[in-house]
Amino acid sequence: MSANEGNLIIEGVRILDPSRDLDAKGHLVVQEGKVTACDAGPAPEGGVDLPRVDAKGLVVAPGFVDLHVHFREPGFEDKETIETGSAAAAAGGFTTVVTMPNTSPAVDTAAVVHLVRNKGLAAGQCRVLPAAAVTHNLEGKSMCQYGDMVDAGAVALTDDGQPVRDAGLFRHVLEYSRILGVPVITHAEDETLSAEGVMHEGKWSTRLGLKGIPAAAEVVGVARDIELARLSGARMHVAHVSSRGALELIRRAKDQGVAVTAETAPHFLDFTDADCATYDSRFKMRPPLRSMDDQQALVEALADGTLDCISSDHAPHTPNEKEQPFDLAPFGVVGLETAFAACHDRLVRRGSFSLLDLVRLMSLAPARIIGSEGGTLRPGAAADFTLIDTETSWMPRERDLLSKGRNCPWLGRSLTGRVQATYLAGRLTHGQRWAQEAVAR
Ligand code: DOR
Repeated sequence: MSANEGNLIIEGVRILDPSRDLDAKGHLVVQEGKVTACDAGPAPEGGVDLPRVDAKGLVVAPGFVDLHVHFREPGFEDKETIETGSAAAAAGGFTTVVTMPNTSPAVDTAAVVHLVRNKGLAAGQCRVLPAAAVTHNLEGKSMCQYGDMVDAGAVALTDDGQPVRDAGLFRHVLEYSRILGVPVITHAEDETLSAEGVMHEGKWSTRLGLKGIPAAAEVVGVARDIELARLSGARMHVAHVSSRGALELIRRAKDQGVAVTAETAPHFLDFTDADCATYDSRFKMRPPLRSMDDQQALVEALADGTLDCISSDHAPHTPNEKEQPFDLAPFGVVGLETAFAACHDRLVRRGSFSLLDLVRLMSLAPARIIGSEGGTLRPGAAADFTLIDTETSWMPRERDLLSKGRNCPWLGRSLTGRVQATYLAGRLTHGQRWAQEAVAR
């Protein structure tokens, strides 16, 4: 760390701090990696002699927190590594990510939890918090040593990528999670309904001659898991919600006091099953892109609190894998580098959300679900933040992606709002050139 790393004053910036409902022009002071002041009005002159960054025209927000990323390490380093995934996260304004355990070996022992954490620390681009598997090798058969994995730093339990088929086993996992104080993240899906499907079942799957996955596959899965969460009294988080029917069940469960939270992903807010019309596998993920009506329901659910947060479900695959025909290509899209801009376009520019609402959905709200201290710019907090230009339009290009994945559905589309810099504990993790220019200004 250089002498001045972790120390700076950001001036003339629009502060968005959802933990204080603060949206005001002001300044942010960072000392030794922590926020020491963040208030409306100009930065005090004199006093501490810190490098000053003139961030006029930019927004400062708490670093984004993503509860759902696939960094593929160990085992699938040709798709992504913890280092390349972390760099993509920093470029997208993220300072904390929760990694899914569907690696090889799976994150099903304390040793693999340690490995992921240590690789995250070595990469040093964001806080990499592993979610640990519910069952050994995600096979749905036998339970893991949850206490050991939580002690090693696992922040959630999940078999994401697939549902836990055995309801009785899942019930017991929920009961253990309650004792351990970590949420269970459910990939809710009835596989007897999704079967061999590759896209949403509807008029587009018929027209394209592709086998469909009915929304009912998700709705049935969510219905079962909500009943198990109710029975166990555990905290359950529903991953990548895509359908109106699932939202109706989650809304009712919340009203009844079940401890359920839920996320959706940016791709569900921006695309529909009609986008599969070109058989482009960049639009193939699980659950699949659904109808316009489902998309409308997701936006309403983000507004009324049925959905708590937005997670990217960043799921890189190699170009070779994704270049196969639509029905053969693996499920998954990358989205860390485009998440903010896509949501800003859809929810703020074309929708009725305030910028503060969006920042909350991407920082404070997900942080609370895993009990992390992120999502705030309060004095005393770690200086994890991002600087954003909300006016700039840009076009994501393949060659600019820091993720190894090229399977990004926003490539070649114009987006408005761009992360200019990201800081982790006051240290720049993205935007070197920009920050040097800003300091020199
Ligand atoms: O599209 C998806 N890709 N959905 C999942 O649930 C898993 C993920 C992956 O691991 O590629």
